[in-house]
Amino acid sequence: MDRRGFLASGAALALSPRFSFSRENPARLRLATSRQSLVGAAHPATQVWAYNGAVPGPVLRYRQGERLRIEVENALDADTTVHWHGVRLPNAMDGVPHLTQAPIAAKGGRFTYEFDLPDAGTFWYHPHLGSPEQVGRGLYGALIVEERAPPQVDRDLVWVLADWRLDREARLVEGFGNAMDASHAGRIGNTVTVNGAIRESFTVRAGERIRLRLINASNARIYAPTFEGHEPRIIALDGHPLVAHRDASLVLGPGMRADLLLDCAAQPGSTHRVIDGFYRQRAYELMKLQYASEKPLRQAFAPVPRLPPNPVPEPELSSAQRHRIVFGGGMMGALPAQSRQRGLFWTVNGAAVPEHEHQHSPILNLRRGQSYVLELVNETAWHHPIHLHGHAFRLGAAGAWADSVLLDPKSRAEVAFVADNPGDWMLHCHVLEHQATGMMAVVRVA
Ligand code: C2O
Ligand code: CU
Repeated sequence: MDRRGFLASGAALALSPRFSFSRENPARLRLATSRQSLVGAAHPATQVWAYNGAVPGPVLRYRQGERLRIEVENALDADTTVHWHGVRLPNAMDGVPHLTQAPIAAKGGRFTYEFDLPDAGTFWYHPHLGSPEQVGRGLYGALIVEERAPPQVDRDLVWVLADWRLDREARLVEGFGNAMDASHAGRIGNTVTVNGAIRESFTVRAGERIRLRLINASNARIYAPTFEGHEPRIIALDGHPLVAHRDASLVLGPGMRADLLLDCAAQPGSTHRVIDGFYRQRAYELMKLQYASEKPLRQAFAPVPRLPPNPVPEPELSSAQRHRIVFGGGMMGALPAQSRQRGLFWTVNGAAVPEHEHQHSPILNLRRGQSYVLELVNETAWHHPIHLHGHAFRLGAAGAWADSVLLDPKSRAEVAFVADNPGDWMLHCHVLEHQATGMMAVVRVA
């Protein structure tokens, strides 16, 4: 990839104000076009779509148990909705057009979202209408819910990872959702930004402990970040606490999040690369960790803190009902008649459903309060991050809690959960070009 070609020369990005936070959340999110310098001053700014004028939109910070109330005002030329990814909220607040609400109309439509935040963790918000284009143009932001007693760290940071397809003038390449992208791996770009700009370096201090919240807001790109000379521990996945452990193999599909505990144990003045190596042969440097020259803040680190579990009901495996859901299609995959002509390339249990058809009939009817094990089968030759709305599930029988699972090509996974949240919920691939061309379904809990 030719991302290096866009790097602004030299300018080390120190602790930019975007990395700091206040808990004064905006009462309003306004969608409009904006211009932003994604690739540095040597190139023109890029025309983007933004919440409150910036990409990513504002970091919303609440404390667990608080209530979010935000009025959305849509000044774009396109209808939209806001989905609060990963939050176990009432169905009517889920932001799925035609299923849970009417679209928020172009040129002035408004809608107020209001709901409680039961779980602490790293979540995010984005449109659920025309997603390949709307997310691809910059509509997303972090939603952070702090624990009632957060673990002691020196800094709590959010990195929103986004992927852009830009031309030489740093303009977005059009053709969102084209058939070529949609029938293959999705729209993978040529420029990766962290919090809305490419970063040359990120300054840390020796001895500091950082909680780093990674959010993959990209349409289709998968990340496998490693920190040279460091062993960050994954302490949460998709917002939910994990038993702290070292893990070299963090893989973040679109929509997924990970909270890392990064102990900065290297020497003052030293430099370390952060490498994203998910695509073999196409590893690149995301940025450098640049240690300031100050003497270390501390010599030894406290043990890794344990985050308190979220109040997610535990599935009862002995009585769980099982269902099998098969994801199919793609280039060379089998498809129902006429699908390709209709621009549909993917299926869930044999059916290809266009993005937000007015009538979705559920592929599963789940009984409220009942435990379920879903066997998710990927029959295709492609990766699919499968995301369920309104719930968290265990990966495997007793694995980590999450709201997404990345299915490798020709693989399967099981997830277990209690269907405790009534309503119609999306189950879909978070490669947005796949979602928009058939790989989405509805699960009804009643
Ligand atoms: Cu972030 Cu339906 O997804
Ligand atoms: Cu997919």
